[in-house]
Amino acid sequence: MRVIGATACPRLDLPLSPRNLHMAKIAIRGDLLDLPRDPGLTSVDAAAVRWRPDHWLMVESGVIVDATDVEPGADWNRIDRRGHLILPGFIDTHVHLPQLEVMASYGTGLLDWLERYTFPAELRYSDAEHAEQGARRFLDALLAQGTTSAAVFATVHEQSADALAHASAERGMRIIGGKVLMDRHAPAGLLDPAGGGIEAARRHIRRWHGRDRLSCAVTVRFAATSTPAQLSLAGALLDEVPDLYMQTHLAETREEVAWIASLFPEARSYLDVYARHGLLGPRSIFAHGIWLDATDREALANAGACIAHCPGSNLFLGSGLMDWKSLDAASVPVTLATDVGGGTSLSMTRAMAQAYEVQSLQGLRLTAWTLLHAATRGAAAALGLDREIGLLEPGRCADFTVWRWQTSSVQEWRQAHAKALHERVFAWLMLATPGNLRETWVRGRRVAGSDACAVDA
Ligand code: GUN
Ligand code: ZN
Repeated sequence: MRVIGATACPRLDLPLSPRNLHMAKIAIRGDLLDLPRDPGLTSVDAAAVRWRPDHWLMVESGVIVDATDVEPGADWNRIDRRGHLILPGFIDTHVHLPQLEVMASYGTGLLDWLERYTFPAELRYSDAEHAEQGARRFLDALLAQGTTSAAVFATVHEQSADALAHASAERGMRIIGGKVLMDRHAPAGLLDPAGGGIEAARRHIRRWHGRDRLSCAVTVRFAATSTPAQLSLAGALLDEVPDLYMQTHLAETREEVAWIASLFPEARSYLDVYARHGLLGPRSIFAHGIWLDATDREALANAGACIAHCPGSNLFLGSGLMDWKSLDAASVPVTLATDVGGGTSLSMTRAMAQAYEVQSLQGLRLTAWTLLHAATRGAAAALGLDREIGLLEPGRCADFTVWRWQTSSVQEWRQAHAKALHERVFAWLMLATPGNLRETWVRGRRVAGSDACAVDA
């Protein structure tokens, strides 16, 4: 896949707040775990895993500069998190900002759910203040779950995409975001004027793409809500600006797939609709991808596009069971995502547990390594960002999370009976709750966590 301009973490061009100036050189001590290589689907062998128990993660001006078992010198601010698991920050590759308020809506499947719950909630984002508050609340909620990077859908309103970008920059997060494009099959207040949506998207891209840690995505909601004319303009926009992403939905439910076939009878498949309009490429992120065939999988692999698997949403909306094994066999990268409104949680540990269960129903037992890789370095590689995020390695941005191995007597008892590393980490992952997260760090700054940030001077 095309490697984008992802260099090592941009040096802090957002100012350090006075509160954090003393934190410019930080050494944090704990059990470091990351996955520099693709671990495959079912091998519990730890060869692909980098396990560094009781090590120091050394961070200078927001960038990881070392990971070592040698005690740092006196000029380092030391933070003792011994007995905690330190992971790279999670990457949620498909999530909708305006859908927090429709999570856990009762009783329906995708198309009806969009009309009944989701579109009314998204209409409220025409209000700039609502959009700004929503963006801040959403990003803080991501951080509170250990997610430091995400590919995010705003709404069709330009100001909601701007609010997302602004709030992301405030937090220093690595975010891919986009103004949603829709010019049919939605309420009037959510429709772009003919041709006008592209102009608004272009303005947003000019303002934000490549600024600080932000990238923009041409964000076609799904083929049903764009006319062929809008899809063509979206494809042209993607060509116009270097390094743009493309994010959309693909083959989520059977009813949706049949609708797309009736709207685009000339296309071979749902994916082919996007391909015909220039929207299938190396930076294309397709959410769901449940109802695909071998030709689609080959086309995805040839393009270097990825599937953002949203197991919680697929279960909740009853959409279907994504076939990870076939995608993997076809060399299509599978990343993980929460989707949020269609799902019931922003937690990536929960998404990993749900992904295990969805594959388990199909006879495939994914390892903790596969799941963690898909949520960290695997996603970073699929997005061309692996020189910036996804690993605990010198030169990467210091986006990481600190987890308690256990928070309840049940977790403690289970951990006490775990022997090999995989057993320990897998049990941790399946049983983790938000309470297991102690703190989230972005660019060397603690941005979420329940405890005071004690620095041993
Ligand atoms: N397809 C089109 N829009 C959406 C959405 O908001 N959520 C999900 N899950 N699928 C979609
Ligand atoms: Zn979605």
